[in-house]
Amino acid sequence: MTHVVTEACVGCRYTDCVEVCPVECFHVLPDRLVIDPDVCIDCTACVPTCPVDAIYADVDVPAGQEDSIEFNQTASQQYPVITETLTPLVQPDEPPGDDEDA
Ligand code: F3S
Repeated sequence: MTHVVTEACVGCRYTDCVEVCPVECFHVLPDRLVIDPDVCIDCTACVPTCPVDAIYADVDVPAGQEDSIEFNQTASQQYPVITETLTPLVQPDEPPGDDEDA
């Protein structure tokens, strides 16, 4: 078993999940993350951290998103590991124009 980042991550990429991962299984794409199934230890720490509920055990991936399982496997071999959080692609709680670091 492994855990899988599903389509809900696309365009969000909050990266809260990365912060709690003990094994560096996340890889970063321009619009989302994926999990390397050979590195994931199924600790489930990341699951409750995702604001959009994008992460599932492979056996619990929602119907219609089964392609995510293979996509995580292949894309994790092609994109770099991410170990630190990034600025999310969407920031629904922040007013426009207030996203610059001082
Ligand atoms: Fe994506 Fe959720 Fe992580 S939106 S980057 S799976 S916290």
